[in-house]
Amino acid sequence: MPNDTGFVPCETRVDVVEAALAGLAASPKTLPAKLFYDDEGCRLFYKITTLPEYYLTRTETALLKSIAPSLVPAGLRDAVLIEFGGSDETKARVLLDLPERPFRTYVSIDVASPALLEMQARLSEAHPGLTVVPIVADFMQCLRLPPLGTPRMGFFPGSTIGNLDPDVAIRFLTTARTSLGAGSWFLLGADLRKSPDVLLPAYNDAAGVTAAFNLNLLRRLNREADADFDLGSFQHEAVWNDADSRIEMHLISTRDQIVHLTDRTFYFREGESIHTENSYKHTKERVLDIARCAGWEPHRVWTDHAGLFGVFLLQG
Ligand code: AVJ
Repeated sequence: MPNDTGFVPCETRVDVVEAALAGLAASPKTLPAKLFYDDEGCRLFYKITTLPEYYLTRTETALLKSIAPSLVPAGLRDAVLIEFGGSDETKARVLLDLPERPFRTYVSIDVASPALLEMQARLSEAHPGLTVVPIVADFMQCLRLPPLGTPRMGFFPGSTIGNLDPDVAIRFLTTARTSLGAGSWFLLGADLRKSPDVLLPAYNDAAGVTAAFNLNLLRRLNREADADFDLGSFQHEAVWNDADSRIEMHLISTRDQIVHLTDRTFYFREGESIHTENSYKHTKERVLDIARCAGWEPHRVWTDHAGLFGVFLLQG
């Protein structure tokens, strides 16, 4: 199964090699989506977020801005905002910049420590009164948070939840609820199920940025995992899997070929795929079911007027 903890960037070379070997030895072949995010992958992902076809980021940001005053539950004052996977504070700032200043502390949990420190510097300058706590960790793990006080609100924007198979998403939300403690709030952003006519171009853009993002994974393995992928012999493919309600990204071998990675040899048939990412597109009801299975109580849901994206406020 690909993408078990899909989106958590890998830091060490040993992790990269281990993850790649396990995925390529599987049948069908897979590579975990967490391998996308090296420096070049992060740059390409940022470029994706600005593409005309990739409606997710601008829709969520506009939605967060328009609902910001009502996002923060009444009575949430001097609160702690805890973002899971937040080395980029752009979306958190929609909440932190509110005139009532509901949050006194911002905690960001991410494995990318340089990015976290840069975020801390930027945010401390913009918000002198705010306590910024970077935590370098894999947010999929159960965390014992430092004593932060209450009330707390977890924040998980960007539809990263869509990278997780539903059982893993439930596990993550359960773990997050335990880490945050009883009486916490949770704000979740999730891309919603819609026509493949809209979804497919978002994952197969005309400018070819998503293709470059997908193929960059192989370039990374050539560099960091002693592999010899021929980048000209693999092709980006995005497909809509209706039964599982998800976009899948694949890299398709365009010929029979042999690839080495460290001292291992892998055989590819023409047309054979490496499954690199799942991006689930649940209905609003399904997201709420997943949240309930994880012990959260739905409090409020907002969507944009076209119903593309959902922001879910949950109570623990
Ligand atoms: C960062 C996981 C939300 O699934 O839309 C973008 C990653 N993959 N284009 C997504 C991604 C291809 C993105 N997430």
